[in-house]
Amino acid sequence: MIRPFPNFFQPIGWCMLLLISACQNRSVDQDNDRQLSLEFINAQLDDAVAQIKVLADSVPADQLPRTFQGDSSVSSATEWWTSGFYPGSLLYLYEYSGDEQLLQLAKDKLTILEKEKYNKGTHDLGFMLYCSFGNALRLTGDTAAYKEILLTGAASLISRYNPTVKAIRSWEGWTYPVIIDNMMNLEFLTQASKLSGDTKYRDIAVTHANTTIKNHYRPDYSSYHVVDYNPEDGSIVAKKTAQGAYDESAWARGQAWGLYGYVMMYRETGDETYLDFAKNIASFILNHPNMPDDLVPYWDFNAPDLPADNPYAAKYKTYRDASTASILASALIELSTYAEGEESANYLSKAERMLESLSSAPYKAAIGTNGGFILQHSVGSIPHGGEIDVPLTYADYYYIEALMRYKKLLEK
Ligand code: GLY
Repeated sequence: MIRPFPNFFQPIGWCMLLLISACQNRSVDQDNDRQLSLEFINAQLDDAVAQIKVLADSVPADQLPRTFQGDSSVSSATEWWTSGFYPGSLLYLYEYSGDEQLLQLAKDKLTILEKEKYNKGTHDLGFMLYCSFGNALRLTGDTAAYKEILLTGAASLISRYNPTVKAIRSWEGWTYPVIIDNMMNLEFLTQASKLSGDTKYRDIAVTHANTTIKNHYRPDYSSYHVVDYNPEDGSIVAKKTAQGAYDESAWARGQAWGLYGYVMMYRETGDETYLDFAKNIASFILNHPNMPDDLVPYWDFNAPDLPADNPYAAKYKTYRDASTASILASALIELSTYAEGEESANYLSKAERMLESLSSAPYKAAIGTNGGFILQHSVGSIPHGGEIDVPLTYADYYYIEALMRYKKLLEK
């Protein structure tokens, strides 16, 4: 941590301080130990605005950007789980810049995305509709345009809730699978209750979060990826992975979804159980012996230790996942505001380190390259053989969100 020189009035000391701060993209904030400067954050957001305009040029009108692989842009139809992130990123960057072109680009995509409000075949409606329409409502205040869409979507999401299991079903197949990622869809429900005055959405969110605490987490506060239930009696059929290295491993993005989810649930409910739980998850992640120095995690926390007979051992031990770091940075910035003293400073300094890493090589792409995506080196799913070491739309979304959250801290 960079601190002021003891004697404030020595001109040489000040010059050295400015030089060190400039070299490290940092500035001293004596009140709160924040280490990234507004100039640094704004420079990253300016680059994000420039880069998303490059991306905009490559997206077909009826599709959403997904990744860039082998020198080709890959886009998706609106029903793919990541469809809300690009409009969400455009909206955050509109919020930052006031650039009306970004708002219009977002609105164009909201038009094609709206039909997903009727989609009862996915649990990902929070990602799809809340990151997009939720941000649109927050920024424009246009309830006439967005309230009905959000509430119809929230009704579709809770159609997947089973009161015997006490959780929302994630996928088809399996028996009744619930994945840790589903914590991220709960904010959509708490907000739907605020918007409608009907507590049923929030009640389901709370019940789902409590079931997840009970059944997804191990004693060390790492999470299984999938818990498969028997929908007849709510008993557990199996605890497995789908995107991690093996069933008992800690798939990195899953740990990040869980952390973000419980920080958010504390914000939304004020229940200290969620705050304590989030702190324990943060402790697992931040103290993990396999956490690299740049704080951009491996795709699975257990990846570096994979035994030779693991199918991913030979090739994938050292792959990183920038998307995990983006989600973690955003969650840790928020968590730092709910903690005090050294604990708060620790969360914030870890988020700062993640943002510094992501904002530089090899993670941040040069403007005009990388298909218009901001970040490189994310992993979609190694077990499925898809989107390995590529840019991903959600890595960019949570990176932008983290920058915006940090900017708001600085401007407070
Ligand atoms: N929700 C899917 C993923 O995190 O890859």
